[in-house]
Amino acid sequence: METSKRTEIIELAIRARERAYVPYSNFSVGAAVLTAEGEIFTGCNIENLSYPAGLCAERTAIFSAVAAGHRKFQGIAVSGGMKGEAAKDFCMPCGMCLQVMSEFCEPSFPVLIVKNEQEVQEYQLRDLLPHMFDSLDKG
Ligand code: THU
Repeated sequence: METSKRTEIIELAIRARERAYVPYSNFSVGAAVLTAEGEIFTGCNIENLSYPAGLCAERTAIFSAVAAGHRKFQGIAVSGGMKGEAAKDFCMPCGMCLQVMSEFCEPSFPVLIVKNEQEVQEYQLRDLLPHMFDSLDKG
């Protein structure tokens, strides 16, 4: 991933938190995914009164990209914290979001966990989901 694109997805993940719809948890998450072609898609968490109907920020971003025709990705940035506040911790992606990443991304896929522009932890997908479900043939 180019340094300038890395910086861009970090900043966009932080900014995407502002669009989170989180009346139930009050916890806002933003994500920005960089496609193989160099395009960036952002996502936020979107909650629902029927709680399981809500969607995480990472899947919102990835599904938006897939719906626009992208299936190959260079990296994702994620940032989360209490709504209206700067992130206080590194917000790790949940298991379902990691499983969705594993559908489209290689084990070496970079996952950037963003507290702020200066404090970023970088993982590979394989660090966070070493044993993903992959028994069905994807075709
Ligand atoms: N959330 C995300 O958006 N991404 C994750 O990986 C973990 C959790 C959201 C879901 C819910 O809206 C809120 O954070 C609290 O769980």
